[in-house]
Amino acid sequence: MLPRLSQLLLAALALSGVVSADPSGDEELRDFFAREGAAVKPLNLGRRSAATTQTRHLRPTYEREETILKKRDITPPDIGQVADFGGQDPEPIRNGAGDTFFANSNHEIDAQNPDNVAAPPTDAGTVPNLKWSMSLSHTRLLKGGWVREQTITDLPPSKDLAGAELRLSPFAYRELHWHRVAEWGYILNGTGRISAIDDSGRSYISDVHGPSNGSDPDIYYFPPGVPHSIQALDQGLEILLIFTDGNFDATGTTFMLSDWLAHTPLEIVAQNFGVNVSELGGIPQKDPYILKSTVEPPPFGHASEQAVADPQGDVPSPYVFHLDQQKKTNAPGGWVKIQDSVTNFPVSKQLASALVFVEPNGLRELHWHINDEWLYIISGHGRATAFAGGSTARTFDFQPGDSAVFPVSYGHYIKNLSPTEPLIYVELFKAEKFVDFSATQWLALMPRQVVADLLNISIATVETFKKEKQIVIA
Ligand code: CO
Ligand code: CO
Repeated sequence: MLPRLSQLLLAALALSGVVSADPSGDEELRDFFAREGAAVKPLNLGRRSAATTQTRHLRPTYEREETILKKRDITPPDIGQVADFGGQDPEPIRNGAGDTFFANSNHEIDAQNPDNVAAPPTDAGTVPNLKWSMSLSHTRLLKGGWVREQTITDLPPSKDLAGAELRLSPFAYRELHWHRVAEWGYILNGTGRISAIDDSGRSYISDVHGPSNGSDPDIYYFPPGVPHSIQALDQGLEILLIFTDGNFDATGTTFMLSDWLAHTPLEIVAQNFGVNVSELGGIPQKDPYILKSTVEPPPFGHASEQAVADPQGDVPSPYVFHLDQQKKTNAPGGWVKIQDSVTNFPVSKQLASALVFVEPNGLRELHWHINDEWLYIISGHGRATAFAGGSTARTFDFQPGDSAVFPVSYGHYIKNLSPTEPLIYVELFKAEKFVDFSATQWLALMPRQVVADLLNISIATVETFKKEKQIVIA
């Protein structure tokens, strides 16, 4: 009795931080994980405690110490939860398999990707990497902002879509240009003014804003070939950009007006515009990509003051879509707003999108699509498993600023890992209509016996499955 009590006392002191367990090294750590497994909550061994602050959103909040003490003798069944290393660096150990890192590993990256290090037992086979953090991209610094991209060379499975983040300082321009492919934008922060014309010479000018006072931001869409530019207003601007080609950096994809003129004989340029060569001496010989404005434009909400009278009139269908004017589609565990050309955003013929809000602990249900899905995490922390068919699957962990792709037909879910903060992200498809198939809806609408026999579950259980898409489950 006495030794048992003293052990408990020692463990309690160690937990309260009064006595450090003070591991002598990897051997003790290895023994510890071999004994306790990674899916239980181990004692804090005091190694690299700084990791807890960097990764506090990745794991559930710690239980009270007495609860941990009661549970310590019980190894819970591994039902696929994120391996919990109790605030320590993740180690490639799970349920008696694996071993510690014996040499080097990048502990910050490990801490953000515990499912790379100690995947759930349901992961299997070789699934390519499907995630790209924009923080891994080269950032191009320009006078008046910056840009960083994710293209097919960063994330080869993303064939349909490429993404970028663009920052404009107050009043800076993204210069006049057009693309071979369609462009979709989501205002991440700040305010700006976009302008364009269509192929009939009908013009468009509109102010756009990021999320403010809890309201959703604006998105925009430019069809292929439509020439456009963007100017930041007084707050500056940051935009998430999507292009309908994974190989967006290929020559022949983006065309800058100043670049074109710099590579056209000046006498031709002069004749084309009907002016003297002497008036064109200031044309830049290298496209700036981003440039500062020389005069402050009219403030937000005053776009019409800059509009040029257009004999052809305005474009018939706006390039901007105001998410804050769209009604939410409520779901048991959150809500979604879907935009596509068939439903509510006619001009967006090659891009369908959804803004998804997942409440704490909520789950974007098991589903798949008929196009590649490209996604971007706006806030919160998520976890997704991509099922690639052929008995292969891989689980990924997401942080804000991560992009990812679920290739066409891959089954997937996204779980909000946080018990307190929402997970907000966008889903994008190179498609005229948003399409998804729900696993639950499918099974609920099949003959009961078919489902019961396959899954070896009762008909009574099958009868509880929801016949309507749940989208996000509480
Ligand atoms: Co563009
Ligand atoms: Co999806």
